[in-house]
Amino acid sequence: MKAGYLQFQPQFGKPEENISKIKELIRDKEFDLLVMPELANSGYLFTDKNELKELSEKIGDGIFCRALKKISSEKNAYLVSGICERAGSKFYNSSVLVCPDGKIFTYRKIHLFDTEKLWFTPGNKSPEVYEISDPKSGTVKIGMMICFDWFFPETARTLALKGAQIICHPSNLVMSYCQRAMFTRALENRVFTITANRTGKDVREKTELGFTGESVMVSPIGEYLCKGSPDKDEVCIVEINPEDALNKNITQNNNLFKDRRKSFYKT
Ligand code: ACM
Repeated sequence: MKAGYLQFQPQFGKPEENISKIKELIRDKEFDLLVMPELANSGYLFTDKNELKELSEKIGDGIFCRALKKISSEKNAYLVSGICERAGSKFYNSSVLVCPDGKIFTYRKIHLFDTEKLWFTPGNKSPEVYEISDPKSGTVKIGMMICFDWFFPETARTLALKGAQIICHPSNLVMSYCQRAMFTRALENRVFTITANRTGKDVREKTELGFTGESVMVSPIGEYLCKGSPDKDEVCIVEINPEDALNKNITQNNNLFKDRRKSFYKT
């Protein structure tokens, strides 16, 4: 399966421009699964709740989801992207899985980072695993987590225990630990991880915030399959065999899941 990430700098408050940039970057690319950054429709640095009303969309209904659906169908590929979601009077920092048949699945970030807590409602559901189909690999199970979720190893472990072979990780990282830590998340769960980070800065009237790029893709045995630059727009696609993530044996005598001492892990 051809899987990878798209790294770019979403423009704050300009969903149409962000869609155009995504289209431009993938125009001549072939892939089966592509992961994009967190809040790729809206940008990150909100300063007022009214901005969320304007820049969020109901899943399936807005311009960003419609554009992703069109790309997914045209490319016959699965897309995962961060999105600023509106549901009634609430806003979520969400990720969507958009399928070529038009289906959309949503994960709402459960660990909100810093000022995100001013704007978003945290997700109240455990991250789920979804079956996607690939002509070469057959059925493949994938899960989504969003940026700061990485800091809580339980998130990736939950997805792995539910059977995820690939963890898709839309991100807007402001520090530089995660890109290195994802080596461990992949290795300790024996899964593929695809962290799609954004680059550049959001510059607002009284405040600004920079993001660290260096998107990264790691294999179940801790190989770096792709590493992005700190500041460039990039699409990286790698041929992977998702079945590699089904082998949880570490040595002849160690199995990642069977060797867990669950009774010692309480609280
Ligand atoms: C983050 O969760 N966007 C740092």
